[in-house]
Amino acid sequence: MKNIGILLSGRGSNLKAIAENISAGKIPGAKISTVISNKPDAGGLELARQLGLEAVVLPSKGKEREEHDREVAAVLQKHQVDLVCLAGYMRLLSPWFVRQFPHRILNIHPSLLPAFPGLEAQEQAFAYGVKVAGCTVHFVDEELDHGAIIVQKAIPVLENDDEHTLAKRILEQEHIAYSEAINVVLTGKFEVAGRRLVRK
Ligand code: GRF
Repeated sequence: MKNIGILLSGRGSNLKAIAENISAGKIPGAKISTVISNKPDAGGLELARQLGLEAVVLPSKGKEREEHDREVAAVLQKHQVDLVCLAGYMRLLSPWFVRQFPHRILNIHPSLLPAFPGLEAQEQAFAYGVKVAGCTVHFVDEELDHGAIIVQKAIPVLENDDEHTLAKRILEQEHIAYSEAINVVLTGKFEVAGRRLVRK
């Protein structure tokens, strides 16, 4: 069994999608062992409890980055986590944390990277006037929204879209893309050459 640790700061719809896909047998051999939030009021915590998962609050406010990351890593290591999935985790990770889990930290971002990294990516893409938008699941390195790409899903921007309808359709793709990427990484059927992840 492979243990997944999920880090979040918000509502947790990606957590829900991953949990549902595991229950549906779409991520064989995987289990969510712990859900950690740096925000005490994150909706994803309540969701985790409803799903029967361990929900841990480790407030980051006012803490040094690495000091907080060491607390998070201790919980993950206690559960012998094989894969760390950031699902709306609104905090940069320290280089120390990234080194603890080489090629074992994933993030999902609501744009086709390298376009529109950072906050409010869907709004940025909409305002820019792109005709194709989407989401990216990538390995986490020390730079924001930057590591090797595992899965991307693209959707057209429709004539009658606004930033909300676009964000909603991107989110539907996120819920598919994240589980697909987890499967790629957990089965180990890939190689990373430079920035290129090649499936085997
Ligand atoms: C998603 O749009 C994800 O791409 C971004 O943060 C949002 C988290 O949403 N990193 P949720 O909490 O999983 O619903």
